[in-house]
Amino acid sequence: MAWWLAACDTAPRAPAYSEARRLVDEHCISCHSKHPTERAFPIAPGGIVFDTATDMVEHAERIRVRVALDRSMPLMNKTGMTDAERQVLASWVTAGTPTATAAASIR
Ligand code: HEC
Repeated sequence: MAWWLAACDTAPRAPAYSEARRLVDEHCISCHSKHPTERAFPIAPGGIVFDTATDMVEHAERIRVRVALDRSMPLMNKTGMTDAERQVLASWVTAGTPTATAAASIR
């Protein structure tokens, strides 16, 4: 079987909240936090924060648009986010932000 058919055989993977969390922590939280570490933004831009699972779920669709469609976040790709990472984060959103609600309750 052609490699691309084999690839299509596997059901699309729904990334876990922990994966999305790791990507947001690495690429977004320096600006989008109640306590940003990026000195240019002492206050989170637009008041948009991703500190908790609930925050991420609330802004999930905008996260997907800015990361995977516009590709306008991270700002000027300051944190060097890769295409593969963008796909994982977008898949977490299109899969319905799995396990985030459970994570929210323990945070
Ligand atoms: C270096 C700082 C910085 C980083 C890192 C960053 N952003 Fe932003 N973000 C901004 C600024 C500045 C704005 C406001 C201007 C704008 O909307 O382009 C913004 C606005 C936003 C908004 C609100 C506007 C809208 O489209 O609804 C979202 C959502 C967003 N960013 C998502 C993300 C995501 C997801 C990441 C990580 C993958 C990220 N940002 C990383 C600086 C940053």
